[in-house]
Amino acid sequence: MRNPILVTGGTGTLGRAVVERLLDAGHDLRVLSRRSRPAAAGYEWATGDLRTGEGIDAATSGVDAIVHCATTLGRKDVAATQRLIDSARRSGNPHLVYISIVGVDEVSLPYYRAKLEAEERVVSSGLPWTILRTTQFHDLVARMTSVQRRSPVIAALAGVDFQPIDVHEVAARLAELAVSAPAGRVPDMGGPEIRSHRDLAREYLAATGRRRLVLPIRVPGAAFAGYRRGGHLAPEHAVGRVTFSDFLAGEAR
Ligand SMILES: NC(=O)c1ccc[n+]([C@@H]2O[C@H](COP(=O)([O-])OP(=O)(O)OC[C@H]3O[C@@H](n4cnc5c(N)ncnc54)[C@H](OP(=O)(O)O)[C@@H]3O)[C@@H](O)[C@H]2O)c1
Repeated sequence: MRNPILVTGGTGTLGRAVVERLLDAGHDLRVLSRRSRPAAAGYEWATGDLRTGEGIDAATSGVDAIVHCATTLGRKDVAATQRLIDSARRSGNPHLVYISIVGVDEVSLPYYRAKLEAEERVVSSGLPWTILRTTQFHDLVARMTSVQRRSPVIAALAGVDFQPIDVHEVAARLAELAVSAPAGRVPDMGGPEIRSHRDLAREYLAATGRRRLVLPIRVPGAAFAGYRRGGHLAPEHAVGRVTFSDFLAGEAR
């Protein structure tokens, strides 16, 4: 590519891995963040905020592609994505690559509904676009237990399985998509194994040397029924290779 690739959310869990991957492949990069440029950054930096629009035109200016990894973790993702689209439309229609979640149309969590709506904005943006949906990252599944570490009993979602995937594998796919022709909605990506939340929580505790009782909790409501039905799983796309056990072993090193 002749011009830089913009990575929104390039300071986040996924974004950092995308940045690393694109730099390794020798691409010119620009990272959008609300923070000011760190001294050591070996790429362009744009300080901006997708909630207010501040700094976004400077961030999208002259880029060939945008990998949109930023998230406000809530409803505001829709407006934030629209702001990015509007700015990209003013700056030469770069290829927009959007990361979404398997089951955004199956599990009725407010965040998933916002992701689905953001997907729809991308599809109707008039920009060349690609959307990749993946299952939960290992980091997120681990965090669901680690946030409870001070509690004597660890809650796990009863009847809910996860198919966690390694964030570096997702980043590699996004990096590949960003330098390829716009592909529309590409096949979902799921982790290599489907395991119960209880089992994953127990393994996390064992790997981090903690002895706790894991208590399966049945959470009422349509959203969690969606999880119990497995709406967020992609058994037919179990393409990830790094297992949760591999991830934990890597964290322990
Ligand atoms: N986590 C998962 O299991 C999972 C699974 C599938 C898909 N995804 C999707 O992957 C994406 C990245 O997730 P993640 O877990 O890597 O997120 P994360 O670690 O929480 O990172 C969020 C990023 O968004 C940026 N950001 C937040 N608010 C912003 C704003 N107002 N303006 C500009 N940037 C803003 C943050 O940058 P600064 O703080 O530097 O501004 C940060 O880099 C999300 O779209 C998520 O839905 C996640």
